[in-house]
Amino acid sequence: MIKMDSSVKTLSDLNTPKGSFLLGNLKDFKKKNKHRILEQWAKEHGEFFTIKLGPLKALISANLEFNNTVLKQRPDKFRRLSKINEVFIEMGFHTVFNAEGAHWKKQRKPVAEALSVKKVKGYYPIIHDKTKQLVSKIETYATKSDTVAIINDFIAFTIDVTTEIAFGYKLNTIHNKEDSFQNHLEHIFPMINERITAPIPMWRIFPSAKDRLLKKSLKAIEVIIYQFINDAKLRLTENPELKETPSNFLEALLVESEKEDTVFDEKTLYGNVIAMLLAGEDTTSNTLAWTLYYLAQHPEIVQKIREEANSYEGTVPENYDLIVDLKYTNAVIQEAIRLKPTTPMMFFQANEDITTSNLSVPKDTSIILLSSYAAMQDTYFSNAEEFDPNRWIKSECPYHQNHTPKAIKAFGGGSRLCPGMHLSMIEMTTAIASICKQFDINLAVNPEDVEENFAFTVYPENLNVQFKKATL
Ligand code: HEM
Repeated sequence: MIKMDSSVKTLSDLNTPKGSFLLGNLKDFKKKNKHRILEQWAKEHGEFFTIKLGPLKALISANLEFNNTVLKQRPDKFRRLSKINEVFIEMGFHTVFNAEGAHWKKQRKPVAEALSVKKVKGYYPIIHDKTKQLVSKIETYATKSDTVAIINDFIAFTIDVTTEIAFGYKLNTIHNKEDSFQNHLEHIFPMINERITAPIPMWRIFPSAKDRLLKKSLKAIEVIIYQFINDAKLRLTENPELKETPSNFLEALLVESEKEDTVFDEKTLYGNVIAMLLAGEDTTSNTLAWTLYYLAQHPEIVQKIREEANSYEGTVPENYDLIVDLKYTNAVIQEAIRLKPTTPMMFFQANEDITTSNLSVPKDTSIILLSSYAAMQDTYFSNAEEFDPNRWIKSECPYHQNHTPKAIKAFGGGSRLCPGMHLSMIEMTTAIASICKQFDINLAVNPEDVEENFAFTVYPENLNVQFKKATL
């Protein structure tokens, strides 16, 4: 008989925060700041604990070493929570995000290639044009001294950028909220979150009005995207030279779908176009909104970004190479990501029994990684609670002892690290530099009234701001 090492804990050795007899911790898990509640429990119960969600039990880890192991040992030893796949497939989404094993590997390569640094450089004219539209929209707010829920404009901005990169479709949601494509997407995103975090799939038993609306939106989006797929196929047939230099993500995947042993059938093509929109939209728009939340409270930081932005001509940087020089702007965004990551929880599952970080995890255990916990500990970042972009600037970093960028997992990690990280950083740096170059920003509410709401990604609720044309 194998003797168990007594220092190794099992799930039943771990604490479970007090909840109700039948539902366990479900009531807290339904709250919009559930990630912060879990982080608080990590402080009280240790970096490993379990929660009960009705009949389900999940392991929560705020332990950086364990979290790194889970992220790195994919796709073999760990996978995304199978519920994510169920919900995605039920909506007709066969994507790289919910694929696993060999199927995931084959999808990952072309998707990552479509988002490589070289490709993002090629997409820059799209980012440039959409940023110009965003700045011109903000100009109208500044002229009228409007108080605005700016997140809606950031959502429009990221959707416009991503749809053009995904399949060459020129949306102008920034100036025209009526585009039906955008309206349908807005019904789909929140329902993914609702269904993934629902303990019982009520929509299968008693579909609500929201469920019926979702069905309609899914159908409408499907019709639109299949039309794009057919148009792209025709373009490739009529212009075979495009196969060498596809002009967008969809064309690149169509070329991939012609290869032997491809996994890109019609469903997967459709799914991955959707995945780009899903993964690239609210993550980026929410991060932009959180960055503005801090900027609106720090006019001196807006001023420093403006000084840096004066290194280039015009409002929006004309080319990609100029973005690389915007080191301070980049630092401000990194700092916003550290303190307000839009992805503070990630959901996984063990593929087999595994013992790591002195914890024995049985096969199929549901695991929630608190991926932002370490980023807010003094062990990894001195004065961790303070918003200070200078910590990211080598020459000005006053925190030589503790500065551990690897502790930040806002983009995940291992072989499934977010492939859109570079694209989103370029989009955000361009937008923030251009906004700060032109405008002063004021928070129109008390900072403490801006609340974190987890809707698969975390967005700032009640973020209202005012813009004023800067005196240059
Ligand atoms: C601030 C912006 C963004 C954040 C915080 C973010 C965060 C994440 C996270 C946490 C994951 C899971 C990683 C893992 O499992 O280890 C992910 C995956 C992914 N992201 Fe992003 N993301 C952002 C922007 C984007 C953009 C702009 C795109 C593309 C247009 C994108 C495409 C994807 C895709 C396709 C995956 C799935 C990768 C896979 O499973 O192999 N993301 N992202």
